[in-house]
Amino acid sequence: MNDLLGRLRGLLLDTGYTIDGVRERLGDVAATALSREETIPALRATADGDPLATLIRLWWLGAPVEARDVPAGLPVEELAAAGLVTVEGGRVTSAVHLQPWETDGSGGSGGSGGVEGSGGSGGYVVSDRKVRPGDPALRPDHVVGAGGASANLAQLASRRPVGRALDIGTGCGVQVLHLRGRAEEITATDVNPRALELARLSWALSGITGVDARQGSLFDPVEDDRFDLIVSNPPFVISPAGRFTYRESGFHADDFCRDLVRRAPRHLAPGGTCHLLANWLHVDGEDWRDRVGGWLAGTGCDGWVVQRDVQDPAEYVELWLRDAAEQGTPRHRELYDDWLGWFEAEGVTGIGFGWITLHDSGSLDPVVRVEEYGRPVELPVGGYVDEVLGAIATAHRLTDAELLGSRLVVAEGVLEERIGPPGAEDPARIVLRQTSGLRRGAAVGTVEAALAGVCDGDYPLDPLLAAIAELTGEDHDDLRTKAPAALRPLIAEGFFHISTG
Ligand SMILES: C[S@@+](CC[C@H](N)C(=O)[O-])C[C@H]1O[C@@H](n2cnc3c(N)ncnc32)[C@H](O)[C@@H]1O
Repeated sequence: MNDLLGRLRGLLLDTGYTIDGVRERLGDVAATALSREETIPALRATADGDPLATLIRLWWLGAPVEARDVPAGLPVEELAAAGLVTVEGGRVTSAVHLQPWETDGSGGSGGSGGVEGSGGSGGYVVSDRKVRPGDPALRPDHVVGAGGASANLAQLASRRPVGRALDIGTGCGVQVLHLRGRAEEITATDVNPRALELARLSWALSGITGVDARQGSLFDPVEDDRFDLIVSNPPFVISPAGRFTYRESGFHADDFCRDLVRRAPRHLAPGGTCHLLANWLHVDGEDWRDRVGGWLAGTGCDGWVVQRDVQDPAEYVELWLRDAAEQGTPRHRELYDDWLGWFEAEGVTGIGFGWITLHDSGSLDPVVRVEEYGRPVELPVGGYVDEVLGAIATAHRLTDAELLGSRLVVAEGVLEERIGPPGAEDPARIVLRQTSGLRRGAAVGTVEAALAGVCDGDYPLDPLLAAIAELTGEDHDDLRTKAPAALRPLIAEGFFHISTG
């Protein structure tokens, strides 16, 4: 079997079955249509039966091919024995979806059926075949392929090299491709044994060996273990019934994500970090920040929660019924109605999607920042997520006196925008804007704007405030009293940092 997978890997690479190779073979129109789940243009573009076209049809588009067209060196009987295809009367049909996947700086590509990305390194991801409208119903233990959420988590995870890493709910095994080369040891778990079977195929086809794969729920398979990095793209979908393991845990409401957050710290090594994707409920009469902040309170870890999107209950139900290709099926109406009725009974007004990061900083005074931030950010976030966490912690722990004695530096790339009526002497609004990282903007007062102009780490804050007071005629003591409260959020958000030089 390993021999076959090794040969298959070589052949996939030699034939050009890579993100770039497939995109080039399909052309822009067909590749873009595929990202909308439309396969007809791609089928037309691969009608020739050449080796690359055959591989694309077989393992990406899920279309049957003639056995004689399967590239030489890949006996179809061996592929069938390995569970990769079925063969009937000279026709070969894929038993799985096998897609190239890149793991370069962008954190993954080729998600949700599309063909994106360029260059970079990666491997292959094996999952169950994609379900499209009109296909038979999904099996309950369906193993979902790598997609937008997989890439989202990969982009969030810290790039710091680590000793031990854990991927909870590994599914098709895609996060392990991203952990390769960053972690010395990788453990991957899943409650679904079929997921681990397909993940092993993904790893073998990606040339990854030595992954410690364990079956079980949540942290049960790693009860006595600690890790420097934990990642999870969990079954976060919130529904009245856990119908599909790949997306629903069967836990009530958003309890699975809550338990994941609450149990993670016990498995973090000192200094370790955990990155999760999650969904959470917005419930009538409750602030979602309190709900999710409450999950992190008492964990002893620093935390950063970012709500990237919120959907209303109907949008959410439609999204996930579409995801399982259930629109247009006889049960669609009943499923939609039941799901919506359950949300109503639970008082649900919306469903949030976002990132949760926990960091075992060892501090006795942990800080948790919960925020809504939907703007586009520089990718991968993992390239600077440690700095984001550091900034939040610094802002929280610095006393006013320490802050006044610190030498602040305005972050590289911060720009100032002044907005006001034409010809006006003073702007109506001053905004500091980051040109990299999270690309935040912050409306500031004239004192903070002046500080952004002079803070280069040469002088402590207090004498700078004295100079500003002299120039503007403001009272120095007044500025000293107000500045820490005004600057702390700007430090937490990365507009200023403290010079250590
Ligand atoms: C959304 S998929 C994520 C797959 C992959 N890690 C990725 O990033 O694309 C969620 C995975 O969690 C697994 N899962 C479901 N319930 C679980 C549980 N109680 N404990 C651990 N894994 C679970 C599912 O089988 C599925 O493979």
